[in-house]
This record gives sequence, C-alpha cells and structure tokens, in this order.
Amino acid sequence: MHITSINSLNVFLYKLKLTVMKKIVAFGASSSKKSINKILANFAAKQIEDAEVNLLDLNDFEMPIYSVDYENEIGIPEQAYKFKNELSSADGIIISFAEHNGSYTAAFKNIFDWISRVEKIVWFNKPMFLLATSDGARGANTVLKIAHDRISKGGQLDIPSFSFPNFNQNFDNKLGIMDENLKIEFNSFIKSFSEIL
Ligand SMILES: Cc1cc2nc3c(=O)[nH]c(=O)nc-3n(C[C@H](O)[C@H](O)[C@H](O)COP(=O)(O)O)c2cc1C
Repeated sequence: MHITSINSLNVFLYKLKLTVMKKIVAFGASSSKKSINKILANFAAKQIEDAEVNLLDLNDFEMPIYSVDYENEIGIPEQAYKFKNELSSADGIIISFAEHNGSYTAAFKNIFDWISRVEKIVWFNKPMFLLATSDGARGANTVLKIAHDRISKGGQLDIPSFSFPNFNQNFDNKLGIMDENLKIEFNSFIKSFSEIL
C-alpha cells in the first residue's frame, strides 16, 4: 500500500487501530435507570486499553416473563436474539450484578432464561469479567457467587470476579474509585481480564 500524504497515513492508522481494538460488551444486570451496577460495568470496561465499549441497557431487552407455554405458543421474542447478537459480536463481556433478595434481579434472570432458549452456549465461552456492587459492605457478593458458579460451569476460561463494597462511599462519578486499596485490587482484576481478552 502506498501512503501518499499525512492524511492517508492518518486514515490508515485509524483503520488499523479499529481492527486491533477489542469490542467489550458491558452491562449492569439491573433495570434501574440509575443502576450503580451499570455505572460500575461501564467504568470497568473503560479501563481496558484499546477497547471499544458497547454499554447495554437491560430496558432495551424487556420481554414477557419466561414461560414454557409462551415459548410454545408464540416463540422466542426478537429481543432475545438481539441480545445474543450483541454478545456474539463481543471479544469480551463485563457484567456487574445487582442483588435482589440474595439473587439475580428479575430483569436479568428473565433475559438469561430467554437467551438460554436461543442456543445452549449462552455466553459463547468468551472472556468475561463479573462484578457486583451494592451500597452495603457485602457488595452484593451473594449474587456474584451464584452468577460466577453458573457462568463458569463447563467453560474453559477462568472468569475473574470482583465484589465492590459500599459503592456510594467508594466511587465518585468524576474521580472513579476513591479508596486506594480497593483501586489497586480492582486494577489487578482489570489486568487479569485484559490478559484473557
Ligand atoms: C427488591 C430489592 C431487593 C434487594 N435485595 C438486596 C439484597 O438481597 N442484597 C443487597 O445487598 N441489596 C439488596 N437490595 C439493594 C440493592 O443492592 C440496591 O438497590 C442496589 O442499588 C441495586 O443495584 P442497581 O442500582 O445496580 O440496581 C435490594 C433492592 C431491592 C429493590
């Protein structure tokens, strides 16, 4: 290829960068408009170098509550295929889980159930980073454990997981992670995830 001017060199470098950039799909496993888990998932994705972030909102994938009868009568809703397409286009997936009554939010569980009906390989065995946060000291670690056990099952890759405690105290929208030790720990998980991307 002949590079005849600075402009075409810039275009060439831009295209080259796009081809090497990793695509990260990130979402908070919550339908709350002010979801702290969505903020955390986005923040984590933005820490990955040379990555393009696609932040999903679960409200864009709202479907009827899963039932075998609905599936038999009407089929799988289009949003489930849309969600799967987003996952399949990613090089890596970041999810931050909100905890409701010690488990998944209904919004996430419904999407999980529907996409598991599209095909058995739900997360495509892609590199994943699982997080969870709440405004309490336990950092939604119960749901994180449930999610990690389930999503790791049968997969070949180790999935890093990190529970972020006391979100409102430890995170600032402009400054990011406020606690130094937490920041160091968080960054080590980002590094582990980047290495499997
Ligand atoms: C119905 C409901 C159940 C909840 N159950 C838990 C719980 O079991 N454990 C917990 O740490 N927080 C619980 N919370 C508090 C959530 O962690 C808190 O609302 C958090 O902001 C949810 O994350 P999000 O902002 O990303 O939706 C619950 C909140 C609601 C509305």
